[in-house]
Amino acid sequence: MKIVKTIKEVREIVKLWKKENLSVGLVPTMGYLHEGHASLIDASVSGNDKTVVSIFVNPMQFGANEDLDSYPRDLNHDSKLCEEHHVDLIFNPEPNEMYGKDFYTYVNMNVLTEDLCGITRPIHFKGVCTVVAKLFNIVQPDNAYFGQKDAQQLAIIKQMVQDLNMPLEVHGCPIVREIDGLAKSSRNTYLSTEERQSALILSKAITLGQSLVENGERDCSKVLTSMIDLISSEPLAKIDYVKIVDLKTIQPVNTIEKPILCAMAVYIGKTRLIDNFIFEEV
Ligand code: PAF
Repeated sequence: MKIVKTIKEVREIVKLWKKENLSVGLVPTMGYLHEGHASLIDASVSGNDKTVVSIFVNPMQFGANEDLDSYPRDLNHDSKLCEEHHVDLIFNPEPNEMYGKDFYTYVNMNVLTEDLCGITRPIHFKGVCTVVAKLFNIVQPDNAYFGQKDAQQLAIIKQMVQDLNMPLEVHGCPIVREIDGLAKSSRNTYLSTEERQSALILSKAITLGQSLVENGERDCSKVLTSMIDLISSEPLAKIDYVKIVDLKTIQPVNTIEKPILCAMAVYIGKTRLIDNFIFEEV
């Protein structure tokens, strides 16, 4: 496994692979890898001849008061995990490699970016689309892998690939959870012991909402009220949003008639956590 820091090096290596007709999978990450990332890597390794993992804490997707500086980083740990999971190449650029001083082009999307996390994080998805488009151009993968935990991000990236005719397939992989239900996230490391316990309210609310829908409830307000009441019973939890939206357009719906995404963002202390479920069998 190689670790490179420049776009030029990635291009040279991928060019050699393409000459041999080898397929390439890309797993874009911000590092501090956990079992959720490992599941994306495993999907890429089993579906492609070569796998590239990008590790880049993308400044463009963080708002002014967000956790860019404190975002956890550990390249030693990450490279060990990648090695164990048979990754071929890690791309770990510095910000000035990705964004030179004359950088003026952004990828912006309407509609899908406007609700859910787009309300509290208004510039976030512009940063995500821009960096992911750049990574696709640099690595030129046949397949790219993203977690369903960031369900809005996954829908947005699928839409970007469709709208801009990008020649690759985007794969969503299931949420990986701790044994007690908490969705794996690099940000879980911010939680104190007490907060870690309180954070279980997210997955409990997801389980509740999912069972109501699976048992036939189609009125979104009834599902959401039950979930919100449960989350509100946890003193350390402060709801950012709990919503049900169309899975493809990320627009709010009142009745479940098409595939939906039920998504939430909840502050546990200062840490903002997200979780969701999707329901497609309508
Ligand atoms: O999901 C993430 O870790 C990031 O948003 C991504 C896709 C790597 C872009 O920086």
